[in-house]
Amino acid sequence: MTAAGWHLAGRSAAETWALVATELSAAVRSGRHPFHVFTIATLGLDGSPRSRTVVLRGFDGAAREIHFHTDARSPKAAELARDGRVALHWYDPTGRLQIRITALATLHHEDSIARQAWEAAAPMSRGCYTSPAAPGTPLPEVPPAPPPAGPDSTRGRACFAVVCCRFDAVELLALHATGHERLRLDLGGDVPTATILAP
Ligand SMILES: Cc1cc2nc3c(=O)[nH]c(=O)nc-3n(C[C@H](O)[C@H](O)[C@H](O)COP(=O)(O)O)c2cc1C
Repeated sequence: MTAAGWHLAGRSAAETWALVATELSAAVRSGRHPFHVFTIATLGLDGSPRSRTVVLRGFDGAAREIHFHTDARSPKAAELARDGRVALHWYDPTGRLQIRITALATLHHEDSIARQAWEAAAPMSRGCYTSPAAPGTPLPEVPPAPPPAGPDSTRGRACFAVVCCRFDAVELLALHATGHERLRLDLGGDVPTATILAP
């Protein structure tokens, strides 16, 4: 990626996917990366769309998986348990690139994936899961910041969940004064293929 923006024309599908994969891997590691946070939309229990910001915690290009962490008591956890269909969205205003992914999410709670991620999580991040009140509970006042939690924090660990979002395609929109480029990368076959779309 360059500050001048993304140029998709002239690259093979494999090269474009490698570029996207490099950026999403970097975004997991750096809180300053424009793709470190993203929007995930779920289907609400009443069937209406729900979206919110989450932190990108894992990217596996070979498995085509995106991971984030959440509170197992949150409304989105119940929504994902009922219907795992999700839409993921990023936009980098400097690179002027939008990424959209449609995925199938699986909630991992009190299993080996959740336990491994809990042990690797920073104490400050673990602290977010120690609140006695489930996310979305009405409160009489703003609660104090949770203290950092150790790996053996019983409440934190019990509320911590990992969401794995599995996908087969990525859609890119790169904005340019000379003409916007919109591309769908299909990743489910032996090699990536690209389809140019009207922007
Ligand atoms: C910058 C930012 C990062 C966030 N990261 C997460 C996250 O990684 N996981 C999460 O569950 N909520 C995260 N949140 C809070 C969610 O956006 C949301 O408010 C909360 O999870 C409740 O969502 P729900 O009611 O749809 O379940 C973040 C919010 C912001 C503004």
